[in-house]
Amino acid sequence: MKREKLIITGIGGSIEPRSNTMAALKFAMAEVEKCGAECILFDIRKLELPIFNPAKGVEQGGEKLKHFLDAVYHSDGYIFASPEYHGTVSGAFKNVIDYLEFLGSRKPPYLSNKPIGIIATGGGDISGITTIQSIINIAHNLRAIAASNNVAIVSSFKHFDEKNIITNETIRRRIKRLAKEVVDLAGKFKHCVV
Ligand SMILES: Cc1cc2nc3c(=O)[nH]c(=O)nc-3n(C[C@H](O)[C@H](O)[C@H](O)COP(=O)(O)O)c2cc1C
Repeated sequence: MKREKLIITGIGGSIEPRSNTMAALKFAMAEVEKCGAECILFDIRKLELPIFNPAKGVEQGGEKLKHFLDAVYHSDGYIFASPEYHGTVSGAFKNVIDYLEFLGSRKPPYLSNKPIGIIATGGGDISGITTIQSIINIAHNLRAIAASNNVAIVSSFKHFDEKNIITNETIRRRIKRLAKEVVDLAGKFKHCVV
């Protein structure tokens, strides 16, 4: 069956039930939808995956993991969003990404030639950049293409209201630009074989 719309998948958030990172990712995914793509969202908290064990198969994550892997593999592009923990991605985020190792034996492997847009939130007034850089490295190792309009949300506690809505116009504008870039790149790279 021919798919009409591009599918963009968001992966991220934190173990905090009221996660600023998840709020930013949800905002980004709503913008992706406005750009005409279909959205899938994976909240790392709800995936509840155990620490990845390379000696165990895909069964270690149950049906949730199988669904996650298939949905991710068949997507055309991604937005990854992690809080900054000690200058890099959180352990919980990285653990979910480690499961993408199961996509290494598919053809093409991993997330080949698909764009990844990146959002990082940090509590410090200079933060997010090293986390974005970490995710760029992850993207390249998954054979994906890192977007360029990635968003670092510094002092994140200042930019979300009590309903966890982003209050800062600059951040909203930057996330919109990132969402558009990911959808544009996903369309351009869809039929690209390297
Ligand atoms: C274990 C831990 C480590 C953190 N390390 C950093 C850090 O290195 N730099 C920084 O700016 N913020 C750091 N923070 C603050 C978080 O990045 C920030 O509060 C983030 O926006 C939380 O996202 P969340 O609401 O999605 O959980 C840390 C928070 C925790 C809990």
